[in-house]
Formats: sequence, C-alpha cells, structure tokens
Amino acid sequence: MTTTTPTTDRIRASDRVLPHPPYRLPILGDVWDLHVTDSSQWGMRGAQKYGDIYERNIFGARVTYVSSPELMGEINDDEKWAKFLGVPIRDLRSVARDGLFTAHNSEPNWAKAHAILAPSFTAAAMKSYHTTMQACVGELIEHWADRDGEWIDIPGDTNKVALEVIGRTGFGYNFDSFARTDEHPIVAAMLRILTYVNRSAYSHPLVEHTVFRKERAQHRADVEFVNREVDAVIAQRQREGAGEHGDLLDRMLTAADPETGQQLDAQNIRHQILTFLAAGHETSAGVMAFALHYLSVNPEIAERARQEIAEVWTGDELEFGQVPKLRYVRRIVDESLRLWPTAPGYFRKARHDTMLGGKYPFEKGEWVFIVLLQLHRHRLWGDEPERFDPDRFLPERVRARHPELYRPFGVGMRACIGRQFAYHEIVLVLATILHNYDLVPDPNYQLKVKETITLKPDQLRLKVSRRS
Ligand code: HEM
Repeated sequence: MTTTTPTTDRIRASDRVLPHPPYRLPILGDVWDLHVTDSSQWGMRGAQKYGDIYERNIFGARVTYVSSPELMGEINDDEKWAKFLGVPIRDLRSVARDGLFTAHNSEPNWAKAHAILAPSFTAAAMKSYHTTMQACVGELIEHWADRDGEWIDIPGDTNKVALEVIGRTGFGYNFDSFARTDEHPIVAAMLRILTYVNRSAYSHPLVEHTVFRKERAQHRADVEFVNREVDAVIAQRQREGAGEHGDLLDRMLTAADPETGQQLDAQNIRHQILTFLAAGHETSAGVMAFALHYLSVNPEIAERARQEIAEVWTGDELEFGQVPKLRYVRRIVDESLRLWPTAPGYFRKARHDTMLGGKYPFEKGEWVFIVLLQLHRHRLWGDEPERFDPDRFLPERVRARHPELYRPFGVGMRACIGRQFAYHEIVLVLATILHNYDLVPDPNYQLKVKETITLKPDQLRLKVSRRS
C-alpha cells in the first residue's frame, strides 16, 4: 500500500524571483522604467533585455511579462488561468460594461451572449456578410479613383472601411464614412473614449478629478452620447421588426441561449454593439494598414499576390467562395499579424496557487501580461524575426512550429469571436486593393507604430495608381 505525504510547501508570491530592470528603488520600484504611451512596445523591449519572463514593480504592484512559448502552454489552459481585465481593458468597462470583450468570466451575460452570437461568427456565416463587405471596399476603391498621385492617409482610410463593415454587418448602420468630410459624431466620440481610456488608465483618480477635469467631463458626456445613439438604433429596429436584416443586431434581438432559453436584454445588446464597434474595427483596420505598408515596400510580394488574385478572381466580382482560395494573401495577413498583432497582448490570472513552469510561484488571483509582440519575434521564429516573410505560414512550416508561438487572436474560451470575420474582411479588402491599384511608398517613411489600445502604423501614407 502506498501513502501520500501531505506537502507543507506553500506557494508564496514573495518567493518569486524574476529578472527586472536595474536600479529598483524603494517604494517606487521600477516606475522610472514605465512607458505609458507605447506600453506594449516597451513590454517587448523589456523582454528583449530581461528575458521570456520578467517583471516591473510599480509602487509595489508586480507586473509580470511573459513571452515564452513553453510557459504559454500552461497560461493558455483555461482550467489553470482565466481572463483578467488588466489596465486599460478594465477601464473600457465604462462604455462596454459586461459586453463580450470586457465581461468578467463570472458575469452571466458573457456565457449567454457567447452562446447566442457564436453561430454568427462561423466561417459559413461569413457568406451572409460578403456582399456588404464588398460594397464597403467598393466605396474605398471609388474614393481613391480620382486621387492618382496624391498622398493617401492609409490608416485613416482602412479605418473607414472597417468601420463601415462592422456598422453595416453588425447593426445595419451606415456611417457614410467615404461621403462625409467631417468625422461622424459617434466615431469622434468613440475615438475620444478610447484615447481617454488609454491615457487615464495609468493615472490616479485624484489627477483625473483635478488636472484632467475637463477631459473627464467630456469622457462622461461621450459615453452618454454613444449610449443614447446606440439605444436609438436598437429602438428603431424593434419598431421596424427584427429578423429581416440578417445582421448581428437581428440575432441579438431574436435568438435565445440554447441552454437557458433566455434572450439578451436591451441594455446588454447596447453593450455588445459598443463592444463590436471598439473590438471589431480598429483591430482589423490596423492589420490592413500594416499589410499595405509591407506590400508597398516589398513589390515582389505584392506581385506574387497579384498573380494569385488573377488566377482565383475570374469573374467581375470576387466571390465568397474565392476568398479562402487566396492562400498567399492570407499568409500576408498572418505575417502582418505576426509582426504587429494589433491587439498586442492579453492578461491572464491564476485560478489557483500554482508553480508556473515548475519554477515561478503565483498565488491565486495574481496575473500576467502576454507580450504577443515579443512571442511573435521569439528566437524560435529563426534568425531574422523582423523580416516580413509570408511563407513562414506555409502549412508545413506551421505544422513544424511550436503550437504556442502565434496567438494574435488569443486562445481558449475568451479567444476572439471575430477571427473568421476579420480574416474574411481583411483578405477581401487587400485582394480588392491589389487588384485595382499599384502602391507607391513614401521613400522617407520609417515604420513607426502608434498605440491607442490597438496598434497602427503612425502617419503611414502611400500613393496609389489605378491599374489598367
Ligand atoms: C485582426 C483583427 C482582430 C484581432 C487581432 C483581434 C484580437 C483579439 C484578441 C487577442 C482577443 C482576446 C483578448 C483576451 O483574451 O483578453 C479578442 C477578443 C474579442 N474580439 Fe477580436 N480581434 C480582431 C477582430 C475582431 C472582430 C472583427 C470582432 C467582431 C466583429 C472582434 C470581436 C472580439 C470580441 C467580442 C472579443 C471578446 C471575446 C470574449 O471574450 O468572449 N474581434 N480579439
């Protein structure tokens, strides 16, 4: 008979010793080494100096950065680690509350909304959005038609396409982005909300009440304004009768959770719409913009993509079933997302006391930040991780790779629900642009990346010229 000896070893956070920046100060910790405007890129640079797991101590709060594929295997296990709302995601709750992205695992609306909305995001469901997506990119192509030789604000225009796509497929709303000269008031308010959240997340409430009093008041007014506008859209749909439009709003108003038979209430539907506006627009737009940058400076890659597009796109329009056949364009999207995962990381907290990697004690509730920017440049990617090479995503190379090396959409129960949607939309947009236009880079442009919760190429401009 064997007996097990009860272990007396306790997991203690205080026993955790991790590399950290030099010159740690009493009380302040590593605060001198904190960058708030480009925090994800700073997280990546830290990993390049201190290693695959390291920490910064900010006034006693420990921030652990992980970019090790081995440790990711454990952290990505939903049984062991759970989604955590770190700064600044937590502060997005001021607008999206218990919408899918910002809901705590324990909030009942998360499971309900996930069950109701998941069928709208399968690869097959993309068929019903294809024509609408095509119309949106068609407007972009027209918008550029008489701008031959002009510099074009690429992130600005990809933002417009992605906004139109989510507005129309999500809730039948046309922002008229390409027709108007000013910014749509909802878009302007959402942008101010995201900028405020991104900045104030690292601030002290006292500072917000005093130094940033005006911005805080504007933020509150913006949140009230977008709530009112979205409520009006929902009310209008209820008056018209839901069920005919085939968009996400119809589904939210008519479908029930198969488990409980319950539907979403109007307030939660508002939070989901605001979530889709925030999570499903800048992320995709950023990938389109990064890909256009790399295509413009790598003409041989653009040419190879055009050859594929010419073979697949045989009729007048790029048909739904042809989009997944654009394998090389898809690899361009994957490689853009590798170098610049536009949602640059995610947080997980320990469900129980645990010894991460058998070495690092984490007490229940302690959290880590996954530095996707560095994971996607890990030495396992080879000697030249900064080189843009879509063939890294050839199927045989993907199969040969560590399974945790690439996670631009997160993983597990809280992974991105919009993954298929984003791929379909981005491949369609890039293929249509490459089919219609040649891209001319600005010879003086050096890629610089701007962070506003998501990433985008800062001040990227290109000239486009219509292909005959
Ligand atoms: C290339 C574009 C996109 C990227 C890189 C991206 C990335 C991500 C990531 C990393 C997460 C997980 C965050 C976490 O674990 O905390 C996430 C969640 C989410 N994404 Fe995306 N996303 C993209 C496009 C979209 C689109 C187009 C939509 C909607 C149409 C969308 C809606 C959501 C939602 C609702 C969640 C929360 C899911 C949940 O927790 O249940 N995303 N996204």
